[in-house]
Amino acid sequence: MTAAVERPAATRHRPSTFALKQVMAITGVVFVAFTFIHMYGNLKVYWGRQALDGYATWLREVGYPLLPYKSVLWALRITLLVSLVAHVWAAVALWLRGRAARGKHRRRAMPRSMAWGARTMLPGGVWILIFVVVHLLDLTVGLIVAPESWAAQGPDGLIPAYDNLVASFSRPLMAAYYTFTMFVIAFHIWHGWRTLLQDWGITGRRIRVVWATIGALIALAIVLGNAAIPLLVLTGVIA
Ligand code: HEM
Repeated sequence: MTAAVERPAATRHRPSTFALKQVMAITGVVFVAFTFIHMYGNLKVYWGRQALDGYATWLREVGYPLLPYKSVLWALRITLLVSLVAHVWAAVALWLRGRAARGKHRRRAMPRSMAWGARTMLPGGVWILIFVVVHLLDLTVGLIVAPESWAAQGPDGLIPAYDNLVASFSRPLMAAYYTFTMFVIAFHIWHGWRTLLQDWGITGRRIRVVWATIGALIALAIVLGNAAIPLLVLTGVIA
């Protein structure tokens, strides 16, 4: 039996690769939870203008007047932003370490399907990052659709989420961009979800199958729930 070779303390990574993977895992779970809940909220569009606008207004008013207007929303935004910075930082650090460790040698160390999934994680993550910026400028800041109506609302007015959404997705390119991105996100979640168990050191076959199935269902729900919206606007079903 060969003894485990430990790296000399001077060359040991700080933070450890294990810690970076835990950061990726925990912040990844935060995003999956957010994306799923957000998709559920988006489904209000099927109940019409008032339902979606009321939901957007509620997001700002929740806790008010006990808590300041928008304070819960800002807590959520800060959590997401901190998670995003940590997720991207850990991903880049792990990628750089992996590259340095491999040196000039390129060897396939995992099954072909897993290797393909892993290879798409970085470009997929960059795509999603760009999408989040475009999406915020489009539907939260309203820079692209209706800046004046969006910014003006206070505790008493409905947020024009429905009109903004319809205006945005009535542009074929934007609708196609959203729909395609939902597939990128679903794939990112599906693969990321599968790697979570490895990061947590869980190897049982049955639990891996159950876990992968849950991940696949979440990814599918996100694609079906979200990607249908731009397509239905484009075809005039939601107007
Ligand atoms: C077709 C799919 C989607 C639709 C129809 C949609 C719709 C919306 C709408 C209407 C808003 C504005 C809500 C408000 O300000 O009250 C919003 C905000 C937001 N969306 Fe989406 N969204 C979609 C997908 C996504 C995805 C996949 C993500 C994340 C990867 C995401 C992240 C966000 C974030 C971070 C906000 C800002 C929340 C805030 O701080 O106010 N959205 N979305």
